Amino acid sequence: MTAPASPSTPWLLTCRHTFEPTLLAELHHLRLPFTHAAELAPGLLRVGLPANLAVTACNPAYALQILPNAREVFAPSIRALAEPIADALRAQLDAHPGAWDVHALVPGQLKGNPKPPMRRRADLIRDAVLERLRATARWALKRRIADGRQLGILAQFILLDEGQLWFAVTPVQPLLDGATWPATLPAGLANVPDDDVAPASSYRKLVEALACLDVAPRAGDACVDLGACPGGWTRVLLQHDALVTAVDRAPLAPHLMANPRVTFLATDAFAWRPPQPVAWLVSDIIAFPERVGELLAAWLPPRLCERFVVQIKFKGDPDWPAVAAAQAVALAAGYQVLTRHFFNDKNELTLMGKRGD
Ligand SMILES: C[S@@+](CC[C@H](N)C(=O)[O-])C[C@H]1O[C@@H](n2cnc3c(N)ncnc32)[C@H](O)[C@@H]1O
Repeated sequence: MTAPASPSTPWLLTCRHTFEPTLLAELHHLRLPFTHAAELAPGLLRVGLPANLAVTACNPAYALQILPNAREVFAPSIRALAEPIADALRAQLDAHPGAWDVHALVPGQLKGNPKPPMRRRADLIRDAVLERLRATARWALKRRIADGRQLGILAQFILLDEGQLWFAVTPVQPLLDGATWPATLPAGLANVPDDDVAPASSYRKLVEALACLDVAPRAGDACVDLGACPGGWTRVLLQHDALVTAVDRAPLAPHLMANPRVTFLATDAFAWRPPQPVAWLVSDIIAFPERVGELLAAWLPPRLCERFVVQIKFKGDPDWPAVAAAQAVALAAGYQVLTRHFFNDKNELTLMGKRGD
């Protein structure tokens, strides 16, 4: 006897705005059993998925955040909008131990707007959720970790209009290092500080990857930056006090070339290998997508790095066979892998991995 099909419920997914069609195409590519899709706002998709689907079974690379089994609330007041969130959260807190938090989201945030409309109202709704919990489940308040990354339960809501929001309360699942699903960064977006000294804005991609993983090179870690010119990624590694071998045919910005913690090698980044294993391999080389699988096949089976952050770049649509081939190389070599399209990623994906032992 087969189990009855679970009814479809709304799940919300966020992505870098303008990549909504790419996310939708990926959902098709992954053969996820979704029944309908609608764009609720730029960077926000609603799809129908089985209520009992494991959250990690819906982890597309192009999604930055997920609100599984989301519920829509229409209500005229802040208090009335907050009540169902608080009550659903309370029910989950009864069932699950661990820390929790509430993320108050607004659509403008998904477009990277630092002062988005309705921010204040969303914060007041979050405060009202906490107020109701104070009245109904005071014992749970000390388990809240505001802006915490190590969460057992995450309540999220996104305010679409003054009197309309969607919310979900979800047990958080580990993915890789500190990366989780749902993400414990609000809307899956890292805070990437402006860096006027960085020689290229591409530094933002590596900052996002490290924030997603919630782990970074330690002081003195040996790191290799392939395709490093002009040095945005090398600078990020240096900010963690790493020792960087930067490989590119073209030199880095002069201040990075002069840095005693940088060894610059003017050679073919695909052919070069480190004399001994390193802590981090990072690569932002512009090359055909299939070359990423070849690169990982050279580095991972002999375990030349503990962790990696590698960009795979596309011309036109994502090259899913090349992505799958690169992921398969890593998995076969005993690495865990996570693939994401970060807010600052262009037509590319970030493959992150960690040695499994
Ligand atoms: C997008 S840029 C890297 C930007 C860099 N991550 C930063 O933040 O400044 C790509 C680099 O890959 C380099 N590249 C492409 N193919 C290469 C190869 N076979 N060997 C070495 N470098 C290569 C290019 O010279 C270019 O500097």
